[in-house]
Amino acid sequence: MFQIKDIILRALALTSLLSPFAADHVSTYAIFIQTHSPSGEYMFEFDEDEMFYVDLDKKETVWHLPEFGQAFFFDAQAGPTYIASLKTLLNYMIQLSNHTQATNEAPEVTVFPKEPVQLGQPNTLICHVDKFFPPVLNVTWLRNGQTVIEGVGESIFLPRTDYNFYKFHYLTFMPSAEDVYDCKVEHWGLEKPLLKHWEAQEPIQIPETTETVVCALGLAVGLMGIIAGTVFIIKALHSSSDPRDRGPL
Ligand SMILES: *[C@@H]1O[C@H](CO)[C@@H](O)[C@H](O)[C@H]1NC(C)=O
Ligand SMILES: *[C@@H]1O[C@H](CO)[C@@H](O)[C@H](O)[C@H]1NC(C)=O
Repeated sequence: MFQIKDIILRALALTSLLSPFAADHVSTYAIFIQTHSPSGEYMFEFDEDEMFYVDLDKKETVWHLPEFGQAFFFDAQAGPTYIASLKTLLNYMIQLSNHTQATNEAPEVTVFPKEPVQLGQPNTLICHVDKFFPPVLNVTWLRNGQTVIEGVGESIFLPRTDYNFYKFHYLTFMPSAEDVYDCKVEHWGLEKPLLKHWEAQEPIQIPETTETVVCALGLAVGLMGIIAGTVFIIKALHSSSDPRDRGPL
């Protein structure tokens, strides 16, 4: 099934650095390169949160939050330079392994809304694709079975400490009772595309009167129990002091 051009080797460099920001925090450069699309990624984490990645085509630093870009500086040129030397290493490793492809790890997928769902309130659906390798994915959103292209977004591939990856895909949407959604994920670790379904649930609210009735019933049953118990104890005490209970003298 796989041609030589499909060969991917696990070449993820996780480099822990002494943090330039705070001594008791961990900063990590996560870099991967592969023979598939995307051909590589260069990102920087601070305590496992993405701070920036380098857009390798535009040779630009892309800050995860715009505020970071005002507070810090990173020379985006360092990314492509490092990637180029890793490519030489990757080719060498492909030869060394006799073109052995790394094992595929199938993703786990969950879909959930960003905010509590209220009908008619704009919201965002999040598709969390987790624990997969290699970082090659096709993710599409479906609304009522139809592909959606408007209002979609995605994160970069984020590294896990076990050398697998996770990634987020987003869809802005207007919750309604009729629409159903699926996050469709394709990955080489899956036999067929995985569809993770989501739809707005009818909020199950017990009317207040029912709650009151249930509460009153509960209280009544409890009181009856106490009364029955007390009567039983009194009877027991009474009968044990009843002279007829004593044996013949
Ligand atoms: C490399 O793989 C090819 C094709 O699978 C095989 O014929 C060859 O013997 C392998 N070479 C080594 C050194 O393992
Ligand atoms: C993603 O889609 C393209 C185009 O349909 C296909 O060639 C490729 O194999 C797919 N990738 C995966 C990981 O399924």
